[in-house]
Amino acid sequence: MATTTADREQWGSRIGFILAAAGSAIGLGNIWRFPFKAGENGGAAFVIVYLVCIALICLPYLFAELALGRNSQKNPVGAIAAIKQGTPWKLVGGLCVLTGVFILSYYGVVAGWAVGYIFKGAVAPGVESGMFFETFIADPARVIPLLGLFMLLTIGVVYGGVEQGIERWAKVLMPILLILMFVVIFRSVTLPGAEAGLSFYLNPDFSKINGTVILEALGQAFFSLSLGMGAMITYGSYLPKRENLLVSGGYVALFDTAIALLSGLMIFPAVFAMGQDPSEGAALVFVVLPEVFDAMPLGGFVGTVFFILLSIAALTSTVSLMEVVVSYFVDETQWSRAASVWIVGGFTFAVGLPSALAQGGSDLFTNQLQLFGQTGFLNIMDFIWGSLSLALGALLLSIFVGWVWGTGNAIDELQQGADGGFQGTLPTVWAAFLKYVCPIVIAVIFGAIATGVI
Ligand code: PHE
Repeated sequence: MATTTADREQWGSRIGFILAAAGSAIGLGNIWRFPFKAGENGGAAFVIVYLVCIALICLPYLFAELALGRNSQKNPVGAIAAIKQGTPWKLVGGLCVLTGVFILSYYGVVAGWAVGYIFKGAVAPGVESGMFFETFIADPARVIPLLGLFMLLTIGVVYGGVEQGIERWAKVLMPILLILMFVVIFRSVTLPGAEAGLSFYLNPDFSKINGTVILEALGQAFFSLSLGMGAMITYGSYLPKRENLLVSGGYVALFDTAIALLSGLMIFPAVFAMGQDPSEGAALVFVVLPEVFDAMPLGGFVGTVFFILLSIAALTSTVSLMEVVVSYFVDETQWSRAASVWIVGGFTFAVGLPSALAQGGSDLFTNQLQLFGQTGFLNIMDFIWGSLSLALGALLLSIFVGWVWGTGNAIDELQQGADGGFQGTLPTVWAAFLKYVCPIVIAVIFGAIATGVI
């Protein structure tokens, strides 16, 4: 039997939802992916395009996902079916669920590295960090069990359900992460030679902006805010009507953007101070941060705590990825939550194996596979699912909410709980962004890239 609205779980408190949704948004996307994408795509110029994408596209779109979720009280597939039955639109919901599985599969691998790094100080103190990273991630005997462990942790939390599982942890741990980041930033910007990094990160060179930079910045903005695959539909579906979606959503976007920008401040001054290459890709954070820790008092301790918190930030994100898929099975099939988490977790682990072997574990997955200018299975998966698919999902869902469900209905939903704060021209402006700006900008970027114009 499908779960009915009446017995659907809800978040326990407003701050609980904000922290859980911020927990979904804040993760490896901010601390691992944002700096390395910025480093590869021109530094400050990328950051500016990223911020424009957040403000003009992602924020209006975020409200659409939350409104659709709370209105339907369903997973992405169910939410779409509740509004438009038996149409190809359901496939968009299917794309969300698939994207969830695939992002989770390689995200779990990187999250496993973060867990492994908790012990780096103990097992390999003082080992040159670039070398350590290369041997560590190439070793299947370490990365595969760590992926498995991370899947088990995710299964454990998702099994616990919304309030007891997800919300309880997010409340305590997110604030501690923030404090520790400030400590690391302080060390990083005071390293000799840090200024070059600050300038790379904060002084834009606009000639660096091209099609790839724009697509990567847009993809990163969606990725970081957990948008384009229904995570916010699903989290919105556990919200009560009294909740102010605009204020809560606004906080989530604000916290997420703040943490991403702070990670850049943590990383780039150190990259330049240590004479590293900002465009070295997925390795960036894992190679640079340990060197910063080595250069500070109590660095071993700070490093350990930092990677514990990074692992937890990743966990609150993997939980939301898995929750999308699990809520689909719980709502739409006969499967229980327990069966769903194990099946989804087991399947995702299997799909994650090639990504785990893509850093030296297997030559095929590491070097031979090339697609869309990406080398290696993990990078290819990240590009397809983490950038392209999220942008495509957001394109289709903004059309769905803007044109099929209709902005009138979405505005009604957003006004509930808004205490009269969403009146006058505001809803009209929002509707214009959702109906025109979001889909057109995304479509134009896709079109321009497909035809080679940018
Ligand atoms: N937003 C998460 C992060 O930044 C990743 C994520 C993407 C989670 C998509 C859910 C959906 O780490």
